[in-house]
Amino acid sequence: MFAHYEMKIFSGSAHPELARRICDSIYQPLGDSTSVSFSDGESKVRINEDIRGRDVFLVQPTSGPANQHIMELLIMVDAVRRASAARITAVIPYFGYARQDRKDRPRVPITAKLVANLLTAAGVNRVLTMDLHAQQIQGFFDIQVDHLYARPVMLRYLRAKPDLDPLVVCSPDVGGLKMGEAYSQALGVGLATVAKRRKSDTEVDPLYLIGEVKDRNVFLIDDLTSTAGTLTSAARICKEHGAKHVFAGVSHAVLGELGYQRLRDSEITELITTNSTPIAPPPGSKVEVLCIASLLGEAIKRIHNDESISSLFEH
Ligand code: R5P
Repeated sequence: MFAHYEMKIFSGSAHPELARRICDSIYQPLGDSTSVSFSDGESKVRINEDIRGRDVFLVQPTSGPANQHIMELLIMVDAVRRASAARITAVIPYFGYARQDRKDRPRVPITAKLVANLLTAAGVNRVLTMDLHAQQIQGFFDIQVDHLYARPVMLRYLRAKPDLDPLVVCSPDVGGLKMGEAYSQALGVGLATVAKRRKSDTEVDPLYLIGEVKDRNVFLIDDLTSTAGTLTSAARICKEHGAKHVFAGVSHAVLGELGYQRLRDSEITELITTNSTPIAPPPGSKVEVLCIASLLGEAIKRIHNDESISSLFEH
């Protein structure tokens, strides 16, 4: 339906390198736009080319500073809508605020829903995202959401590793079991999980381990890590139960100093993640960053041409 409109891809200031790589992967030029931030923090955006009647994709993960990047994306959407684009797709490889997706205590917001409302109100027609913290967040939008998985990219890297057998996949918390199950099925290995209790934003207590990890290599898989408390405490309990090497994988890494420090001091041999956020691990940090630009590029091409996205994940 939109294939006869010209495609245009623009980047906000959150992750221009990823936007460039997406464009390269599908032989598209990156659109010309300017995003500046004034000294008082206000954002100003300008689209420097004609986009009337175009199928526009705006690439902007809402990684930190999350508020600024969300606001800038909303402003870009406004600019593109007022410039008469035919359709606007927000490409948000990492959708921040996703962990605030329910009222788990009295008098707390559901910020993920608020962000979905803001995007829709600004004029976004559809969203392309990857490994949402909870798949149900797709339902927070009343517009189409295409949901990608980093799984094929992660599995390609993992399968190329020698000496991984015998392997078991482990979810570092019960909430991530579904994701763990998808990896264990794809790899044809068993599944374990750790039950954790969160003591604070930065501290977690692993309570117990369900499943067999003794004399096996473990692949811990989660949607994201920030302080690395969840992964490193899960790695510890796996080691206490006789695991050989512990590898970890997360689709999104929003690591700060504490997270890198914990990883360095942990039993984790290597953490595999993606460039869904502009991550730059310090030397010796055990972090391997895989590129998802081709996956996003292919999805953009398929959305533009009205082709199946789910078939990208069938094998
Ligand atoms: C929580 O349910 C998420 O899936 C992650 O496990 C969590 O957000 C990781 O945070 P941290 O790295 O700070 O423990």
